[in-house]
Amino acid sequence: MGYREVYEGWQADPEGFWMEAARAIDWDRFPTRGLKDDRAPFYEWFTDGLVNGCYNAVDRHVAAGRGGQAAILYDSPVTGTKQTITFADLQARTARLGGALQRAGVGVGDRVVIYMPMVPEAVVAMLACARIGAIHSVVFGGFAAHELAVRIDDATPKAILAGSCGIEPGRVVHYKPLLDAALAQARHQPEVCVIFQRPEEPGTLTPGRDHEWEAFQEGAAPADCVPVPGDHPAYILYTSGTTGQPKGVVRPTGGHLVALNWTMRNFYGVEPGEVFWAASDVGWVVGHSYICYAPLIAGNTTVLFEGKPVGTPDAGTFWRVIEEHKVAAFFTAPTAFRAVKREDPRGEMLAGHDLSRLRSIFLAGERADPDTVEWLQRITGTPVYDHWWQTETGWPIAGNPVGIEALPVKIGSPTVAMPGWDVRILGEDGTEVPPGTLGAIAVKLPLPPGTLPTLWNAEERYRKSYLDRFPGWYETGDAGMKDADGYLWIMARTDDVINVAGHRLSTGLMEEVLAGHPDVAECAVIGVADELKGQLPMGFLCLNKGCDRPHEDIVREEVARVRDEIGPVAAFRLAVVVDRLPKTRSGKILRAAMAKVADGQAYKVPATIDDPAILDEIAAAIRPLGYARA
Ligand code: COA
Ligand code: AMP
Repeated sequence: MGYREVYEGWQADPEGFWMEAARAIDWDRFPTRGLKDDRAPFYEWFTDGLVNGCYNAVDRHVAAGRGGQAAILYDSPVTGTKQTITFADLQARTARLGGALQRAGVGVGDRVVIYMPMVPEAVVAMLACARIGAIHSVVFGGFAAHELAVRIDDATPKAILAGSCGIEPGRVVHYKPLLDAALAQARHQPEVCVIFQRPEEPGTLTPGRDHEWEAFQEGAAPADCVPVPGDHPAYILYTSGTTGQPKGVVRPTGGHLVALNWTMRNFYGVEPGEVFWAASDVGWVVGHSYICYAPLIAGNTTVLFEGKPVGTPDAGTFWRVIEEHKVAAFFTAPTAFRAVKREDPRGEMLAGHDLSRLRSIFLAGERADPDTVEWLQRITGTPVYDHWWQTETGWPIAGNPVGIEALPVKIGSPTVAMPGWDVRILGEDGTEVPPGTLGAIAVKLPLPPGTLPTLWNAEERYRKSYLDRFPGWYETGDAGMKDADGYLWIMARTDDVINVAGHRLSTGLMEEVLAGHPDVAECAVIGVADELKGQLPMGFLCLNKGCDRPHEDIVREEVARVRDEIGPVAAFRLAVVVDRLPKTRSGKILRAAMAKVADGQAYKVPATIDDPAILDEIAAAIRPLGYARA
């Protein structure tokens, strides 16, 4: 069957399609039905099934006689370490940590925050939670203490599992002091913290609360896999929205197993036993779905890479890892290849590397710019596939399903909607617009298995953020169009979310931090185009009347504040002081027009603008930084 037949098969019987896919998962009790729709527009999948995520990712492969196969290939150029962990090892490690967590009182439905770098223990921690039915919430290491505290207060974890430090090129990230600072700010306190001590920088343990990783597990009885209902949350993953408060995306266990398993063979085109590598971080959805869960569920070997595309030690690292670990399919963000291209434009570092096992390269997380895609195709001779999805969806909405059929690539388009997804482009009035017309990208409800049923502790926000604007549809927050062949083109966000080096960031959150400066009366943050990172945040500051402090000092303080409160991942370095901000007559800041000015793009002066001259003032203020050039 080709793509068209599979897609039409899903359209003809969506529930039957997913019930069939569910057969590839090992259930303790097979669900009697797929979709639960009695609370529409809130939907759930496989609610009366019983299943365990860790069993499906680990134990079932051991039971099938594949215990000796590598589950995780840990490759860490930043520490000079490599480790192979078999499925049997992983079973023993998750059982041991799961048992220790149970002994400490962590049970089904309890939350566990994981704040760890890219070490095998992070994946063991996630799977150990799944094993005992605890709900994990991984926080990316590039976030600072305050952001960690916000997530701790929202998830209210019983336990926190953390690494003592992370290693960034040329810098140690002090995870343990950051955790201590977060707990000093948080209202909620966990009962226990377990610290994985790394030799590069062991942390100081707080007596009574903190335990060393090994000591915590000493003598614990190994935990069995605890079956949970299909709609039991496997994890909460916080992502950026319009406001400073992150959205806690909930991932239900059953749908997540079924959908992820389906994607490995049908979408990524890999067979059990083959090596899959997603170069991302366990702190992001790509890391959850395609470093940890999906490859393991499908019986693939996953590569856990603690390094960067460049500088660890050089721009040939990707090629070295692909060759050494015989990677069949590789997935990363376009920005990673832009970094490689910048250092090695002619692909000279590829020479001598055998990439013959590599069948496909997948890109996602941000727009795949044609230059980078063409360059990558040219130097590797390997097909490059863009695909589009979000933290909320957990797996690809649109892409090129090479496991079913490789469709013709149109560079700049992530290709077509996957089974499960009825993607349409809607106009302001909520009706579908003709092919080639720009509009809001929406998905007809119900969403397929594995997608978010709600936001943690925030059902109303879920409804407002995704369901209210177009009743009966899920609003993706992306704008774009569909062409006459049904290919999608993703153009921009419709909200104030920006994408910096494949990392999704909230300008609203940055504005909250900037506004907290005692000399700042008002501010705005926009995303400006950047050759390497796709976008960079840029701040505009209006000072309090009478403030005569040097502008450079205030800018420097604001840059430091964003780094301290949000974290280095915000990559906030650009800011200017301006007299006033362009606004509509009703007081709304015209961020989209400012972004166009900054990028030197043609723009229409909004009819509603208070005073059009302000956009010229904005342009003049940022020209010295190299922006607003025609
Ligand atoms: N823990 C702590 N700090 C981190 C971190 C982590 N896990 N990841 C990044 N940071 C820090 C970086 O050290 C950097 O700090 P600095 O300001 O002191 O230099 C800052 O956050 C910004 O990081 P980043 O945006 O990643 O920029 P970079 O210059 O370090 O690297 C790339 C640029 C393109 C090489 C890098 O972004 C990359 O590899 N991206 C891959 C894309 C990716 O993984 N996307 C995830 C979704 S698929
Ligand atoms: P995240 O939730 O961090 O995965 O970010 C999701 C957002 O990243 C999407 O809503 C898009 O704005 C953007 N994005 C992800 N993949 C692509 C892609 N292939 N092309 C364009 N934008 C993308």
